[in-house]
Amino acid sequence: MYNRFEEIERSFAIGNTPLDQLAAPGSGNQLFVKLEYANHTGSHYDRVYLHLLRQLEEGGKIIPGVTTLVETTSGNAGASCAFMARQLGYDCLIFVPENLPERRKDLIRRYGAKLRETAGEQYIQGSAAAMRQFLKDTSGEKVDGVRKYYSPNHSQVEASCEAMTALASEALSQAEGAFDCFIGAAGNGTTLKGIGRVLKSANQALHVIAFDPAESPVAYCLKYGQEVAEPFHQHGMYGAGAWGVTFPHLEEAVSQLVEEVRLVEDVQWQKAQQELLLLGYAVGPTSAASYFLACQYCETRSDKRVFIVFYDQSDRY
Ligand SMILES: Cc1ncc(COP(=O)(O)O)c(C=O)c1O
Repeated sequence: MYNRFEEIERSFAIGNTPLDQLAAPGSGNQLFVKLEYANHTGSHYDRVYLHLLRQLEEGGKIIPGVTTLVETTSGNAGASCAFMARQLGYDCLIFVPENLPERRKDLIRRYGAKLRETAGEQYIQGSAAAMRQFLKDTSGEKVDGVRKYYSPNHSQVEASCEAMTALASEALSQAEGAFDCFIGAAGNGTTLKGIGRVLKSANQALHVIAFDPAESPVAYCLKYGQEVAEPFHQHGMYGAGAWGVTFPHLEEAVSQLVEEVRLVEDVQWQKAQQELLLLGYAVGPTSAASYFLACQYCETRSDKRVFIVFYDQSDRY
């Protein structure tokens, strides 16, 4: 007998994603890539929401048929939240910047969530502020003592990082051993921290490299304490470089796990994206940037085992 969450995990094949090995430059290097786009809605966020909603429901914070789940996202988290909400019997309301690509908005809508669009120039910061205000305005609306509108707040809670433990453990066992280097996108820090700490416990000498889009050096500024002369700019590397929001997991990852932060230019990830397409991987910008940096890392090294994630596919941009 499986519970509702285990049923979803089994019937929609959440987790247990493939680990592929790609050719790497240098001598004797091995490049491993976890295909997280193979999750049902197409990203690692299916793992996160399954785990988060299970915890919240078991803790009595949300009730199917009563609670409306509320979130802020630039895409992938929204699709997973909307899908899981629909499967589990919750309404779902997602705050997004109005200038998010239409395909990303459509994906969230198709899974049955309502969208609330906020001013484009404020990007995620504006959506987060609007969501906070909405939650404040509706704080008095309760059913049986439970809030009608509840935010899982995926970017701020420890449970999101916990959901990454399985991803990293699967990778260690699929690769039959530890990695020397992990290269990951600096989003809200869920993957960097959640995956990084598991891989580090398998190899204390693990070298962790985080990256930002060059136009929005969020992790770079955290790491090197540098002031940016210009305000942050809009960029096409969705899922990374979200300025103006405090991300505790990213701060922790950068101070405790990440050795270096690299900046990736559009032309660099776009070239890598094209190369990957010819290898049969139609991946999104953060995945392509990971591959670009992994190849660069390997060029000057030998006998390293490098781990990256393909977070999503290019069809949603
Ligand atoms: C495409 C993409 N890549 C990378 C990330 C980084 O993941 P996280 O912020 O969960 O660490 C995200 C997060 O939304 C994403 O959407």
